Amino acid sequence: MHLKQLTQQYQKRVDEALERLIKNTSNLANELHQAMHYSVFNGGKRVRPLLVYLTGQALNIPHEHQDASACAVELIHCYSLVHDDMPVMDDDDLRRGQPTCHKQFSEATALLTGDALQTLAFEALSQNPYLDAKLILPMVKALAYASGAAGMAGGQALDLSATGKDLSLEQLKIMHEHKTGALIRASVQLGALCSPQTSTADITALEHYAQNIGLSFQIKDDILDIESDTETLGKQQGADINLNKATYPALLGLDGAKNMAQQCHQNALDSLSHFDNNADPLRWLSEYIITRDH
Ligand code: IPE
Ligand code: IPE
Ligand code: MG
Ligand code: MG
Ligand code: MG
Repeated sequence: MHLKQLTQQYQKRVDEALERLIKNTSNLANELHQAMHYSVFNGGKRVRPLLVYLTGQALNIPHEHQDASACAVELIHCYSLVHDDMPVMDDDDLRRGQPTCHKQFSEATALLTGDALQTLAFEALSQNPYLDAKLILPMVKALAYASGAAGMAGGQALDLSATGKDLSLEQLKIMHEHKTGALIRASVQLGALCSPQTSTADITALEHYAQNIGLSFQIKDDILDIESDTETLGKQQGADINLNKATYPALLGLDGAKNMAQQCHQNALDSLSHFDNNADPLRWLSEYIITRDH
C-alpha cells in the first residue's frame, strides 16, 4: 500500500476513535462539548497520529493498540492550536479557513476547550484497554514531558519571546525542536513504547528519525512560504516579506535551506537503516515531507 492510501486509512481510523472519545465525554456544558468537537474536526492532516501508526507498523504492533496514543497526540496538538490562536497569543481569526475556536464560541470557552482537550488526551492514553498499566505509565510520562515546559509549551514561550528579535540558526532550531518537534518525537515514542518488545536501540533510532523529519518539515514549510509568495507577489516582494522573520531560508539562503532539508531526510533514512521493509512507510513519509508542494 502506498503512503497516500495509508494516510487516508489512518486518518479515518483516528477520526473514528476521536469521534467516540468526544461522544463519550461529558456534555454537562453543551457549548464546551460542541467547541471540543469543533476544534478537533477542523480539517487537520492528522500527521501526528499517522506517525504513531506508522511507527507501530514498523514494529509490528497491532493498530488497535495504538488508537489511544494516536488520539492523545492529536488532542494535545488540537488544544495547542486553540490556545495558540487566542488574542493573547497569535490573535488569529481563522484556522484552515474556518473561524478559530474563540471566534466561533468565546474566549472563555476556547480557554476551557484547550484545558479539556489536554486532559482528555491523558484520559485516553491512560485508558488504553489493550495495554498493561506498566506499559502505559512511561507513555503518559513521555506525552506530559513533550507537552509541557520542556516541550511544546516551552517552545511556544520561546516563540513569543523571540517576536521582533533576530534569532541565530541555533536559536531557531531550539525553538522549533520544542514548539513542534517535541510532539512529533512524542508521536514515535508513544508508537514504540506500546510494545514491551521494543528495544532501547529502536527507540533511540526512531527518536533520531523524528527529530530529523520534524526539522525538515519546518524547513520545507519556510521554503514553501517563500516559493508561494514569490509566485503570487513577484520575486522581490516575496523575498522581502520572509526576511522580516527568522526562517531557514533567511538565515541560510534558499539553496542552503534546501540542502539542509535534504540532509535531514538523509539522516532520517540513516537512522532507520536497521529496520526492515515494515518501516518503508516511515521512509516514504520523510521523502514526502521534503518533496511536497503545499
Ligand atoms: C500546524 O501543524 C501547526 C504547527 C504545529 C506548526 P500541522 O500542519 O500538523 O497542522 P494540522 O493539524 O494539519 O492543521
Ligand atoms: C503553532 O505554531 C504551534 C503550536 C500550537 C504548538 P504557529 O503559531 O507558528 O503556527 P500557526 O501558523 O498558528 O499554525
Ligand atoms: Mg497535523
Ligand atoms: Mg504561534
Ligand atoms: Mg499561530
